[in-house]
Amino acid sequence: MSKQPIGIFDSGVGGTSIWYEVHKLLPYENTVYLADSKHAPYGTKTPSEIIRLSLKNTELLVQKNCKLIIVACNTATTNAIQTLRKTYNIPIVGIEPALKPAALQTKTKSIGVLATKGTLSSNLFHKTTDLYANNIRVIEQIGEGIVGLIEAGKLHSETMKTLLKSYLNPMLDANIDCLVLGCTHYTYLIPILVKLLPQHIKIIDAGEAVAKQTKAVLTHHKLINTTNDYPSITFYTNANTKELKALINPSNTFKVTYLDF
Ligand code: DGL
Repeated sequence: MSKQPIGIFDSGVGGTSIWYEVHKLLPYENTVYLADSKHAPYGTKTPSEIIRLSLKNTELLVQKNCKLIIVACNTATTNAIQTLRKTYNIPIVGIEPALKPAALQTKTKSIGVLATKGTLSSNLFHKTTDLYANNIRVIEQIGEGIVGLIEAGKLHSETMKTLLKSYLNPMLDANIDCLVLGCTHYTYLIPILVKLLPQHIKIIDAGEAVAKQTKAVLTHHKLINTTNDYPSITFYTNANTKELKALINPSNTFKVTYLDF
């Protein structure tokens, strides 16, 4: 059982930021990654569409014999994880904007959250905000257009910089000292954000926490792969393989395969 792969999915290439953290912490685990780039972005879709797409991805990973699923997408987690957990009898780990650590760390009592429309309008996000950030000013900003640019390989474009500045300025005016990245695509923005933001602003990303949670859940279910063999690592995309390769594959180590799903 433990040799079965961990299945990871996202609306596109962004969830590879989670895959990296998981692979770093659990280097012997076999993994299967699905980039549903054909249907990206999820963030502008209705909750029922997001649920339908999340079920489709999970079903495919279950067919691929995965022992645990990581929903490497805040939008899919906040809209669909309850349905996925009700539908499938295997452990499912998700990701949502890291409001709790931000609320604990802020000194100005003002934090920024950059996420998709689908995440910011979800019931789960509202619940988490009420629970952890009740007495804190939360500046919510929809990252309209960011996922599309990253999917199109335009991460380092001038358009991206201009867009980010327009999203960050109201947060800076509100004196935030923590910026929560509420979308797995946004992890790839960190080098750009570091240049755009004053030094004292902490950028908070939940990738490492998801990897730790995955390890804890695998351990709890006695599902850790105890062999020390080089793992099987498979990336599938239902769009052009080029963008996914560019993000994960600078040295051509991992194979990216086109799959229609
Ligand atoms: N990576 C997804 C997330 O974490 C992007 C959602 C989208 O496709 O809009 O929310």
